[in-house]
Amino acid sequence: MSDRASYVLQQGKIRLILTTALKSDSEIAEHVKKHGDGVKVLALWVDDAYSAFEETTKRGAKPYLQPVTQSDASGEVRMSGIYTYGETVHLFIERKNYTGLFLPGYRPWISDYNPPVAGLQYIDHCVGNVGWNRMNETVKWYEEVMGFVNILSFDDKQINTEYSALMSKVMSNGNGYSKFPINEPAEGKKKSQIEEYLEYYEGEGVQHIAVATNDILSTVIELKSRGVEFLSPPPEAYYSMMPERVGHIDEEIEKLKSLGILVDCDEEGYLLQIFTKPVEDRPTLFFEIIQRKGAQSFGAGNFKALFESLEREQALRGNL
Ligand code: FE2
Repeated sequence: MSDRASYVLQQGKIRLILTTALKSDSEIAEHVKKHGDGVKVLALWVDDAYSAFEETTKRGAKPYLQPVTQSDASGEVRMSGIYTYGETVHLFIERKNYTGLFLPGYRPWISDYNPPVAGLQYIDHCVGNVGWNRMNETVKWYEEVMGFVNILSFDDKQINTEYSALMSKVMSNGNGYSKFPINEPAEGKKKSQIEEYLEYYEGEGVQHIAVATNDILSTVIELKSRGVEFLSPPPEAYYSMMPERVGHIDEEIEKLKSLGILVDCDEEGYLLQIFTKPVEDRPTLFFEIIQRKGAQSFGAGNFKALFESLEREQALRGNL
């Protein structure tokens, strides 16, 4: 008897796999009990799942899934996996000899509920929260084991509010398609929001998944109409100072303000972003919607606005 059921949700290049336990002693049930809703697997598309496993474990990665080949009438998929921070894992998926919909073992699902797409295109980045003094170790792990590079860094002088602070470093693979920012809490007047996450998740894990759209205004209007709740908008002053801070943008500021969308810029252009409230009351995961218009950064200029908004939520939970 199977101990779990999984559903694949797809839009654009995004695939989210939701898994639930069918038995109380399933490792899925254990994971949810311990961590709440969260991201267990960050799967990466590779050319060779066997050599990816051999190479990364040789460089010190802790094995999660020994290389295995699964097949059905549509061909074969080879996969393997290693642990990254906390109980989170990277799976290596090799599917060049597979023509099926997803993976062997899955079957097509025809739903009666078919809402129109919301314009979501691909996963832009996934952010991990690690514990005190664990940043450098984690960055080194991505460099040495995965061959990633550190493309951006922010220290606690750059990312802080009156109350809390954090550090952030962005790790990216060679072609820039896979980006994993890493956050570590920093000392502030009060509890860092990263520390609050670590307490609720009971360990290190994924803080948020950022999904890209090429029309954030219509995406956010659509999502709101379907009940998605976003963090409260920044104060009025954020928008009145926007032209000065980011220069010319194509969108009407009034529209951005009415939806609470944030804007930030770097040397290459600007980006628009907004963050959802946590998916569940136990705040262990949220989503970001992002539209890039040239900018390749992550909205550091918005961190302050974002954090103040997060802190309002944190205060409401009585944890600030
Ligand atoms: Fe983000």
